[in-house]
Amino acid sequence: MASPRGEFSSRFGFLMAAAGSAVGLGNIWGFPTNAASNGGAAFLFAYLLLAFALAYPALMAELIIGRHARANGVTALQSIATGDKGRGFAFVVGSLGMLTVSFILSFYAIVSGWMLSFLLAPVTQLFGMAGATAWLTTDSVVRNALSVVVFMLLTVLIISAGVREGIEKWATRLMPSLVLILILLIGYVMTLPGAMEGLRAYLVPDFSALTQPGLLLSAMGQAFFSLSLGVGTMLVYGSYISKSENLPLIGSLVALLDVGIAVLAGLLILPAMYVALASGVEIFDADGGLIAGPGLIISVLPALFDNMGAIGGVVAFAFFALMTIASLTSSISMLEVPVAFVVERREVRRPIAAAWLGAAIGLISLIIVWNFDALFDWVVTATTEWSQPLLGLFFCVFAGWIWNRAAILKEIQQGSPDAASGFFWKIWPTYIRFVCPLAILAVYLQ
Ligand code: TRP
Repeated sequence: MASPRGEFSSRFGFLMAAAGSAVGLGNIWGFPTNAASNGGAAFLFAYLLLAFALAYPALMAELIIGRHARANGVTALQSIATGDKGRGFAFVVGSLGMLTVSFILSFYAIVSGWMLSFLLAPVTQLFGMAGATAWLTTDSVVRNALSVVVFMLLTVLIISAGVREGIEKWATRLMPSLVLILILLIGYVMTLPGAMEGLRAYLVPDFSALTQPGLLLSAMGQAFFSLSLGVGTMLVYGSYISKSENLPLIGSLVALLDVGIAVLAGLLILPAMYVALASGVEIFDADGGLIAGPGLIISVLPALFDNMGAIGGVVAFAFFALMTIASLTSSISMLEVPVAFVVERREVRRPIAAAWLGAAIGLISLIIVWNFDALFDWVVTATTEWSQPLLGLFFCVFAGWIWNRAAILKEIQQGSPDAASGFFWKIWPTYIRFVCPLAILAVYLQ
């Protein structure tokens, strides 16, 4: 092997890395508006249930397989498969996971590049560079191309430094900063006129909204993307967990952190949107729903910051720092999937592998940037709506049907000696065999 395998040095390190992967753009621009439009606190409650009933078991499948095999996704799946056919299937699923996550990274990096541009804009504004500020905040192919390159460079730099010195070190710095910035921003926005109305829109429960057809299924799809499942990301991070760690416990902490930070983000986003509304900014789209996604981040909120006067620059800087951190701790977890494979299977040194793979994926990003209207939405849909859930289904099949149960239990018992009689072991095996695959199938068919 080209280099010894890394391992997270502590539980905290793993938690920050895994929560960093999970907490991303989706938590901030998708979850809060989705909750507000679909029953407020009732949606939160349903989402929490779904995350624990369906996404958590799938997360555990990846963590257990990864820690057992202590290898990249392809090798790990092959190691639990039996027979030539089984190993062939494992190779296909593992490779498609790698391919899918690489394409997810290619579009994720473009959006993250926008966050970087908007992070720099308040700085250029402070120095009175009006031209540069306008360039940074106006959509153009050149700006998008440059910012995606810079963002990829950051991702590659962290990944080349390795598990402890790269992923863990940066995640343990960045994630607490993210939470701190989030709390400070919430505190400030709450003092502004309109904030309480936003809070009401976000939290007042409407249980009837939950009966809308398709709502729970779309919430499940969101939980799946949010926990970075189905493409080997959590599997690879799982492969760096110490054997003395209690897997069911830390898996549930990761799910809790992901949902918790999404809920917290709502305490910022909804009040901010209603403050914007109070200052004359449009926050509803043509159908009367709240504007979500990129439109929310790069037009609604910047309009609010502009209306804030002098402090607007500080708030904008803090907000886009938050977005950039959320992106970066997710993008490194994506790049790690193919890098771990190439390092372990091709005996390439990690910095070399990270640089070449980062360059290749960055090239795909550039192609998308140059053909944005034709490609962007298509790549997003193909990867996150088709490929990812299907592969997630296969991961459940591996854990539930292909891998032998006694071996799974033995793996969990390392670090959790009483696992055989615990709650987790009573329900997880059935869940991963029947409930998860069927639920994913339901989302898929929809
Ligand atoms: N979970 C992250 C988010 O919410 C994105 C992410 C990171 C991801 N790694 C992934 C999504 C792997 C799918 C697959 O933004």
